[in-house]
Amino acid sequence: MLRLADLREMLRYVPQYRDRVFVIAVDGAVVENENFRNLLLDVALLRSLRIGVALVHGAGHQIRQLAEATGQEPSNIDGTGVTDAATLQLALAAGSRVTHEILEGLSATDLRGAATNALVAHPAGILQGVDHLWTGKVERIDIQFLRALLEHDIIPVIAPLGSDGEGTTYRLNSDAVAVEVAKALQAAKLIYLSTMPGIELRKPGEPEPGELLRQIAVDEAEAILKKQRQELTIPSLSKLTNAVRALRGGVPRVHIIDGRVEEGLLAEVFSNEGVGTLVHTNEYQAIRRALKKDARAIFALIKASMENDELLPRTQAEIERQAGAFYVFEVDGAVAGCAALHHYPEAGKAEMAAVCVSAKYENQGIGGRLMQFIEEQARAAGAQELFCLSTQAFNYFVQKGGFKLGGPDDLPPARRQRYDASGRKSQVLTKRL
Ligand SMILES: CC(C)(COP(=O)(O)OP(=O)(O)OC[C@H]1O[C@@H](n2cnc3c(N)ncnc32)[C@H](O)[C@@H]1OP(=O)(O)O)[C@@H](O)C(=O)NCCC(=O)NCCS
Repeated sequence: MLRLADLREMLRYVPQYRDRVFVIAVDGAVVENENFRNLLLDVALLRSLRIGVALVHGAGHQIRQLAEATGQEPSNIDGTGVTDAATLQLALAAGSRVTHEILEGLSATDLRGAATNALVAHPAGILQGVDHLWTGKVERIDIQFLRALLEHDIIPVIAPLGSDGEGTTYRLNSDAVAVEVAKALQAAKLIYLSTMPGIELRKPGEPEPGELLRQIAVDEAEAILKKQRQELTIPSLSKLTNAVRALRGGVPRVHIIDGRVEEGLLAEVFSNEGVGTLVHTNEYQAIRRALKKDARAIFALIKASMENDELLPRTQAEIERQAGAFYVFEVDGAVAGCAALHHYPEAGKAEMAAVCVSAKYENQGIGGRLMQFIEEQARAAGAQELFCLSTQAFNYFVQKGGFKLGGPDDLPPARRQRYDASGRKSQVLTKRL
């Protein structure tokens, strides 16, 4: 059952997406999955929140099925290789069928949809000496047409087929089509619904499953494409390559999620704990100084750690008063971690306190980045030594933060008094700056 907290979290995202467009790209296999009707219900919910949706679909799965049923061998499945005349016919038949299934599903959900001829394509041409025949490339998108449909509350359904206006149809790769559509519509999100959990990295020869990437900045995605290309499966490689193209083209967020998971789409769009992979612009995560209005979120974040005696107890009102000493690590506008910095200029020291990362963001390096940030701030303020107190995470500060074990004598006198009075007997850790 939906909790009130979940609903609040969801509603937080709504204003920023109202009247924006999400481009949802569905793999052919997802359209056939039993969860597809649920996905369309999610689309209906997006529409009811005044979020525009354009649907791009693939047909690889259906091309494969049709080829098998008719005893044919397609020259290429996904629209990236050579499309011979027979494969173009398969793609036309399979693509039209998928479009129809989507339109039918939209009707069953009381949504209006329209198959479009908005893609103008030209031949991909001769690539590395190979004529790609009826494989095409998007030349132009009839954006006015798509916008007109969206304005009238009609969901454009876009097949991976485009024509040149002179009677020739070319087959396209749906992942690439989705990028062009998202760029042209200045979409707030491009969402790939596929039959894999997200982008996974797997060392060649290693057994499944690989490591699922949760959130990566576009720079990191590019680095993976360069250095760890062989660890990506073919579908992952296609999605990640196209995600980077979309981000470089101005689409701020690209999600790659499993279209077979119920509520996957909504969880991904409306929570900070999406189920798949999010590739985002570099500015999506940031550390900033806390404001008074962050006190509630900080209190909620550190509450469990205070109850476990990992952190010194503080009330929300105290945090609000001390807001200027806190820094928050934001992920997409939500507080995922925090740390505080207290200065003791008379002793040439500074204290790093209340380092805490929300359980759902642990082990992503956020704690490390907060520590580094606090250290830089302390150094910039002229401190020669940074210290921190910890009851349960001292190994973390030693191993990940380069702190050394110290003792109460390392504390500035004013802090020492409070240390003795608290009776918590925390471990004191220090670091020369
Ligand atoms: C400790 C804490 C801040 C780490 O945040 P994080 O963002 O998950 O940390 P990072 O991603 O930078 O680092 C993760 C690494 O630290 C290790 N680590 C996490 N907590 C640890 C601990 N208590 N002791 C030793 N190592 C720890 C992880 O195993 C992981 O190791 P790996 O990189 O070798 O896999 C977070 O777990 C937390 O909020 N804990 C509760 C509050 C707390 O105790 N705060 C410290 C008191 S000031």
